[in-house]
Amino acid sequence: MSLEAKVQIKSLSIRYSDGTESLRDVSLDLYARQINVLFGPAGGGKSTLLRAINRLNDLVEVAERRGEILLDGKDIYAPDLDVVALRRRVGMVFARPVPLPMTIRQNLHYGPQLAGVRGTRLDELAEKGLRQAAIWDEVKDRLDEPASSLSGGQQQRLCLARTLTLEPEVILLDEPTSGLDPISTAKVESSLQQLKEAYTIVIVPHSVQQAARVADQAAFFLQGELIEYGPGAKLFTRPSDQRTEDYITGRFG
Ligand SMILES: Nc1ncnc2c1ncn2[C@@H]1O[C@H](COP(=O)(O)OP(=O)(O)O)[C@@H](O)[C@H]1O
Ligand SMILES: [Mg+2]
Repeated sequence: MSLEAKVQIKSLSIRYSDGTESLRDVSLDLYARQINVLFGPAGGGKSTLLRAINRLNDLVEVAERRGEILLDGKDIYAPDLDVVALRRRVGMVFARPVPLPMTIRQNLHYGPQLAGVRGTRLDELAEKGLRQAAIWDEVKDRLDEPASSLSGGQQQRLCLARTLTLEPEVILLDEPTSGLDPISTAKVESSLQQLKEAYTIVIVPHSVQQAARVADQAAFFLQGELIEYGPGAKLFTRPSDQRTEDYITGRFG
């Protein structure tokens, strides 16, 4: 199988206005139809990198950014780029599910409606998203109940479904299962395995164990630096760098 670099990070450095250098000269390819894992101890710059890929950092104070990020070969920081369109192509799921204070159905219709979708297509997108997020069977008979009536694990899959209704190409997930029980975690992980057939998945896992379970490709970050990256099967069994080995064997972090 040949790998298609969907997102290319080129010599990216990001420094926040308080002087924190969160990423230093990071170059990395993220592949289509793969689960790309970014892992390492807290403070390594993983969330900063995810936010850079759909320009959520625009909303925080990034004092300085150097380098480029290409999506399908095009610079996402180009001056004429449509940021709203970019965020539709690059969806994001956060650690804490934040359903809107409305029904399950309304949560799913909301994004597509903003994008101009009307009529029966809204329910079609809702069902497709719920199926892809592996939660359809649990909610199909209660779509008009408040989203807040769902369990934490269901809310997280609802948020994943909501992202999917916009039919993105890349899905960024920042510790999406950090608050979930093992059964909900397994459901999210298995839906990622399905989703990777059609999408580019980029995930910051909540543990090394999860990183090793899901990674097709893995990148290890330490204090703003990319230490190494490559196929998960190699990185988690025969890492090239001592610091990666120390981390995955639990010697620090
Ligand atoms: N909005 C911000 N303003 C200033 N510093 C930040 C901001 N967000 C993150 N940082 C700093 O950048 C570094 C990397 O953080 P982060 O990207 O959240 O790492 P990770 O997700 O790997 O834990 C940390 O030192 C963190 O304190
Ligand atoms: Mg983080």
